[in-house]
Amino acid sequence: HAEPIAPAPIETIPSRENEWAGITSLLEVRPKILACAACELRGGARGVVFGEGDPHARIMFIGEGPGQTEDETGRPFVGRAGQLLEAMLRTVGFERKEVFIANIVKCRPPGNRLPLPPEVAVCIPHLRAQIRIINPSIIVLLGALSSQTLVAPSIRVTRDRGKWFKKDGRDYLVTFHPAAVLRDERAKRPQLLEDFRSLRAKWESDK
Ligand code: URA
Repeated sequence: HAEPIAPAPIETIPSRENEWAGITSLLEVRPKILACAACELRGGARGVVFGEGDPHARIMFIGEGPGQTEDETGRPFVGRAGQLLEAMLRTVGFERKEVFIANIVKCRPPGNRLPLPPEVAVCIPHLRAQIRIINPSIIVLLGALSSQTLVAPSIRVTRDRGKWFKKDGRDYLVTFHPAAVLRDERAKRPQLLEDFRSLRAKWESDK
């Protein structure tokens, strides 16, 4: 992946939140997201990857967008990056099924390129609806795109990883995207583990 592109400023994007305001369950939101064809990514993808996990999870993980394996299976984080995510979860004592895993965009960008700002702008109401419904206290941001989209465009993962940000009553942890860790395991894997230990500690202290 190349350098992240900062998403379009939120104030320039017409709000579609109202469409979702009355929806209060994942069962209702799912068919709406699966039926979306609002941007060009849908045409290049096999299907929409909704996300999965405990609908009442206290922790959500947010990636970038589906890769090839995710596009093929319809499930988030099931390729190599997903295996690393799962291994890290287990190492700090969580199971995949007790958290919720989703992405900024729900359809695979061609060739795994970063989603473009207009694609993020069109898709983000889906994720915002999922976050509102699941209502996690902790959101783990995997990589630059989710960090910049959900916390602040000024976030730099290399500088800010391991930091917690409070926003709208939730705690957000910035960490590496597992795919970035796979490209530089010696340097980044210990840091990813440190961040997952910080996650576990926060989760314990919130109980
Ligand atoms: N990378 C992501 O950002 N999301 C996935 O679901 C898989 C790989």
